[in-house]
Amino acid sequence: MKRITVLFGMLALTASGATLPMDSERGDKLFQSQGCVQCHKLKGTGGIVANDLGRVLDRAYSPADLASTMWNHAPQMWKAIRDRGLKVGDLDPQNAADLFASFYSARYFDVPGDAARGKYQFADKTCASCHGLSSPVNEKAQPVSKWTTLGDPVSVVSSMWVHSPEMQSELQRRNKQFPAMTAQELTDILVYLRNSTPAKNAPASFRITASEGAAQLAAQKGCVSCHKDPKVLLSKNTGPMTLTAVAASMWNHLSMKGMQHPAIAPGEMRELVGYYWAAQFFQGSGVAARGKKVFAAKRCVGCHAGGGAGPVLSAKAGTWNGITMVSGLWRHGPTMLSQMEKEHIPWPVFKVGEMDDLIAFMNSAPGK
Ligand code: HEC
Ligand code: HEC
Ligand code: HEC
Ligand code: HEC
Repeated sequence: MKRITVLFGMLALTASGATLPMDSERGDKLFQSQGCVQCHKLKGTGGIVANDLGRVLDRAYSPADLASTMWNHAPQMWKAIRDRGLKVGDLDPQNAADLFASFYSARYFDVPGDAARGKYQFADKTCASCHGLSSPVNEKAQPVSKWTTLGDPVSVVSSMWVHSPEMQSELQRRNKQFPAMTAQELTDILVYLRNSTPAKNAPASFRITASEGAAQLAAQKGCVSCHKDPKVLLSKNTGPMTLTAVAASMWNHLSMKGMQHPAIAPGEMRELVGYYWAAQFFQGSGVAARGKKVFAAKRCVGCHAGGGAGPVLSAKAGTWNGITMVSGLWRHGPTMLSQMEKEHIPWPVFKVGEMDDLIAFMNSAPGK
């Protein structure tokens, strides 16, 4: 059974009882101390030998995505390390988890935004009819330049939530509904607003945190009356939701029928969003039956199902996820690569989604 727990000041991922707390700030430091910084950039600093690991991708970014991009480029990376005679540190699962949190936090928006679309949305969703950019339109509503934060999607939703009673009463006066928002619309609006105000220069990164009390907080705020199990999605999302999608969902709760509107302070909102995000995000969305085919097609089966050169992977069923794959790859990959060379097996590469399926299969413990 996989279970997510949340520790003080960090996100934690529990697999088979082993707890992996996660903290983006610790990951920032590991990026330096483990030597990644010699070749990769992150949050503006580092080498240019290889890709910037904080750059925005055109798709959501999950631990399984990290595992598959790293896997695909691993032989190239080990060669670069050997050629330069560089020293790199170890990646145990804890280090891999912290690095993931750090890379995720660097991505700022997990889907790229479009300022032109955001400008349109800001008017279309009637925001512009109350909020000017730098001067007031409605005297009760602050212009955007006075907003306390445009730092990241979570903090904007959070400050809107704090101010929602005033916003609601202005809307009611005009007989208007609270405007609903998708993750993409929220991102586009933020990119537009950041580009049009001094917030442009604010740092584009945020810390991922949730406290030990997040589950309790969810009970205290009445969330558990509808969300019995944080891992079970009530929305019709099929895959894991990004942090921005979770933030947009919080925005939409304000117009939900039957929803009380508990006061949620900014720090509390960050914890709640982190808690619900982690609970569903680290489960992955792979399908074991498809993963079984990947395991055969990539020839893992010849070495890892018993009798081959490698360990039986299903012996650790229940502990596999993108994070433990990254750690396993980093620690055992070079030996695995030379074994493959000996057996004339080309280094296997993964397409989007295949790693997720493979992980689901490795966890399904066939024959156990
Ligand atoms: C000696 C240089 C070097 C060091 C040190 C190094 N890498 Fe790499 N890395 C590479 C090269 C080369 C590639 C493949 C080409 C690329 O991604 O630009 C790569 C690729 C990757 C990728 C896939 C990137 C992508 O977007 O496709 C990840 C993830 C990665 N490295 C993580 C790490 C981590 C984490 C560390 C530190 C523990 C690290 N690397 C240390 C050279 C290095
Ligand atoms: C009917 C008028 C009205 C509309 C329409 C409206 N707001 Fe507001 N909004 C307010 C009022 C009033 C406040 C509370 C006073 C303040 O802080 O500006 C507020 C507060 C906010 C805050 C908190 C600002 C802070 O100080 O940090 C955010 C963020 C926000 N609104 C975003 C939006 C967005 C995005 C839209 C469009 C989807 C929108 N609002 C539509 C009236 C409105
Ligand atoms: C009145 C019932 C209700 C309450 C109370 C409620 N929610 Fe929800 N929540 C829903 C529904 C329904 C959805 C699905 C909405 C959709 O499909 O867009 C949802 C969706 C979500 C999602 C997106 C992931 C998912 O499960 O689909 C998150 C995260 C979330 N809620 C968090 C919270 C938090 C945090 C609180 C407490 C502050 C809360 N909810 C309170 C009904 C509720
Ligand atoms: C030619 C044989 C061979 C093939 C093919 C192979 N591996 Fe391996 N693998 C190994 C060996 C040998 C090790 C152990 C290396 C060591 O002891 O450091 C290993 C180690 C691993 C580990 C680390 C195990 C741990 O407990 O942390 C993982 C994960 C892994 N392989 C996954 C795969 C996957 C997924 C595939 C298919 C895409 C694959 N391997 C294909 C030989 C192979």
